[in-house]
Parts: sequence; structure tokens; C-alpha cells
Amino acid sequence: MTEEIQCLPLRGRRPAGAEGAPHSRREAPQTFLSSVLCPLSSVLCPLSSEPLMPDSCPCLALAPMEGLADVDLRAVLTGMGGFDWAVSPFVRVTNNLLPEHAFLRTCPELRRGSRTPDGTPMRVQLLGSDPECLADNASRLVALSPAGVDLNFGCPAPTVNRHRGGAALLAEPELLHRIAAAVRKRVPRGMPFTAKMRLGVDDASRATECALALQAGGVDALIVHGRTRADAYRPPARWEEIARIRATLAIPVIANGEVWTPEDYFAIRAATGCDAIMLGRGAVADPFLARRIRGLPDQGWRELFPALRVYWSAVCRRVAPQHAPGRLKQWLALLRRNYPEAAQLGQQLRALTRVAEVDALLAKQTI
Ligand SMILES: Cc1cc2nc3c(=O)[nH]c(=O)nc-3n(C[C@H](O)[C@H](O)[C@H](O)COP(=O)(O)O)c2cc1C
Repeated sequence: MTEEIQCLPLRGRRPAGAEGAPHSRREAPQTFLSSVLCPLSSVLCPLSSEPLMPDSCPCLALAPMEGLADVDLRAVLTGMGGFDWAVSPFVRVTNNLLPEHAFLRTCPELRRGSRTPDGTPMRVQLLGSDPECLADNASRLVALSPAGVDLNFGCPAPTVNRHRGGAALLAEPELLHRIAAAVRKRVPRGMPFTAKMRLGVDDASRATECALALQAGGVDALIVHGRTRADAYRPPARWEEIARIRATLAIPVIANGEVWTPEDYFAIRAATGCDAIMLGRGAVADPFLARRIRGLPDQGWRELFPALRVYWSAVCRRVAPQHAPGRLKQWLALLRRNYPEAAQLGQQLRALTRVAEVDALLAKQTI
């Protein structure tokens, strides 16, 4: 088990430019996004700052969010600072050995050392139900040197569940064990190997059994999203169930679900006893959330808007023009929870469908 996975307090740790050195100066290449973000403000970019993480905040991870936290948004969010690592959306494994480009498509960060532009390690998530097939694909993934491998046992999508994937497997703890054990054999010790689970399919009665099965299968740490599949995304997340799992397991548990503010962060830590927390939609709605949790200088729309422009430019380069405005609107729809300016901009964007129109609107904005 690596030091990073244990999420130990930081005092005395040496910045190493590696995953085991959260928020220390990262020796990452200065790539496009970091070079654009850094001049905005020295506090926006961990590359230009001193170690950021106080002992009171041992470990923060950015959640996988398929269709929402795309590679460009991951670059922006991790570029704000505050995250120790992030997980890619799932790569779906059915019954064949995927070509390399399938992993690279989902996690383009693999092309640059499995790090986001600011140097945050990206772990890659696999989803499937066939232990041997998952293991073979894990071997192929490992050859691409991911910053870690994660298994998805939380996806509630009917199409995935119908094919015995994601959260549906929480009805089969024995299969969870076989999957984890098969993949464990292919993930080298020292490369973080985790699983991410919900509490169950319809209720949480087998949550601990599932967690124990994954632990016995050899995962280094377990991420628990405090909802069942039936709960979908309805609040609240059941942090008390995460506490129950944590109390039973010997491996670290990373708590996840409904953390939107620093107050939520301290509440989930108190309720679950977990030191490590994974942030999902809360980080998209407030890209400074991880910074705020760490007690770093407050940032606002003034600092966020330039990042929004950077995101828009990156999306326009990567996504087909007819889809690009939708990506920006989607982010603004969550940002509006915290930023009235985002609500206003979203309103103005609503009817726009062409890249040139969005460009013109953004160019007009004054901050
Ligand atoms: C749009 C969206 C896509 C998601 N995709 C994934 C995924 O690919 N893999 C996964 O394990 N969880 C996925 N999740 C679940 C999140 O990682 C997280 O567990 C969930 O949103 C609860 O955390 P939150 O309340 O902080 O958002 C997704 C969630 C959303 C909202």
C-alpha cells in the first residue's frame, strides 16, 4: 500500500513531484492549460506556490464524472489546486481486449504521464463483470502506466446494469471478490488499486459484505458513494452507512457524496471518520471548493471567468462545433449554484448554438 493511499497527514512529507506528495510543488511539464492559468494568479496554480495542504486536510480526490468532467474540465478543476488525485470516467470492458486508443480516448492524460496539466495524477477506471476479461484489460492499461487503476461498482445506468455492470454487481459480492482478485494480480504493488462502490442495489443491507469482498480481493482502498443504485442522485447521501463500512474495513475508505461546501466536507469527515474525501459535482459547481476546504485564499468569479474562457477554447479544439456550446452550458448550469454571474451568462447563452455566437458573447463579458 502506498503512502498516498493511506492518506497520512502531511507533516514531514517531502515534496517529490509524485503522487505521494499532495499539493507540494509538482514537477509536471508546463503544458497548455497550466501555462495559461498560471499567469492569471499565482494562487490559481500549484506549480507556482509553496506546499498547500495543511495537516487538517489529508486527502482530496476528484470524482469520475462521465460526460461532465471531461479532460478539459479536469484540467481546469485540478489546475485550481487542492486535489491529490483524480479518477477518469469508466472505460467499459465487455468481452474483448480493448485497443490502446480506447483507454487513451477516455483518459488522454495517459499520454502525458497520466497527469493533468498541473501534475495531478489521473487514475483510470474500468467497468465490467468478467473477471478474466477485466484482468486482461487491466494488463493492457497497466502497460500505459496509469497513476492508478479503479474498478466501477457504482454506475446506475440501466444500459450498463442490464449487462451486469456497475452498481448491479453489488447484488453479487462473490463476483466482486473474483473481479478484484483477478485484476489485483495484474496491477503491480505500488500502483494504487481501488474500487468505487455504491451502498447496494435497492438497499444498503449488503454494503459491508460487498466492501469486505473487495478488500479480500486485494484493493488498496475503497471509495464509497453513500447511496444505493435506487437512490440515484437524490440527497441525502447516507454518510452513516459509509461510517459503518469504514469501521469494518482494515483498508482506507474514501467517502463520497453530497459535499458542496467546506462545511459539508467537515461534516462528512466527522460523520464517516474518513480522512480521505472524494468531491464530485460540488467541485464542478465551485471549482475553488478544494482550495476553500484547505483554507486557501478565497477566489471568485473574477478568477473563475478566465478559466471558463480557457475551458471554452479547449472544448472548441476538441469537440465538434455543434456539441461545444452544450459543454459550456452544462458547466454553467452547475456553476449557477454558487455564482450569480454564471446564472446570468447561462441565460444569455441559452439560445446560442453556434461557436461564433458564444465567442462573441464571451468576448463582450466584462469582469
Ligand atoms: C454526470 C456524472 C457522471 C458520473 N460518472 C461516473 C463514472 O464514470 N464513474 C463513477 O464511478 N462514478 C461516476 N459518477 C458518480 C460520481 O463519481 C460521484 O460518486 C457522485 O456524483 C456522488 O458524488 P457527489 O455528490 O460529490 O457528486 C458520475 C456522476 C455524475 C453526476
